[in-house]
Amino acid sequence: MDKQLMTFTVNGEAVQVAASPTKTLLEVLREELDLTGTKHGCELGHCGACTVLVGGAPILSCLALAVEMQSEEITTIEGMADGNTLHPLQQAFAECGAAQCGYCTPGFLMSGKWLLDHNNAPSQDEIKAALAGNLCRCTGYTKIIEAVELAATRMRASADATAAG
Ligand code: FES
Ligand code: FES
Repeated sequence: MDKQLMTFTVNGEAVQVAASPTKTLLEVLREELDLTGTKHGCELGHCGACTVLVGGAPILSCLALAVEMQSEEITTIEGMADGNTLHPLQQAFAECGAAQCGYCTPGFLMSGKWLLDHNNAPSQDEIKAALAGNLCRCTGYTKIIEAVELAATRMRASADATAAG
């Protein structure tokens, strides 16, 4: 099938790519834009390894056609850190041992970022609900939940310090 020119904003930068309209967003991110931090796992919508944010909300990029994402703001794991400064959730994952093989980690970080963007004091049940679409074969989930709680605590403290001037 003929390639089609597509335009997105990816991690804050406008990008244009020529790709088949049958390609998923996951395929375009990894194969055309070389953003391989987003993982492909089941490619059936079951594992969450391919989670990215579109307009700030998590979606499964293996189930989305790239051509339907045109003009959207897409955030991948490559856009999560601020330069050399890790996002608090990335830092907490590292400190808590929430990543083992790491294959699921970008997807968890995307889902967790969405949660913390909307809820700065999530309960364990709210964390579990937000991460319910992400599967991990290694960690048993406990350390992942601890990491989200740690990041939330630090982000609240940082926001309070900023507000206090
Ligand atoms: S690769 Fe998309 S949900 Fe598994
Ligand atoms: S750390 Fe290995 S699958 Fe989650």
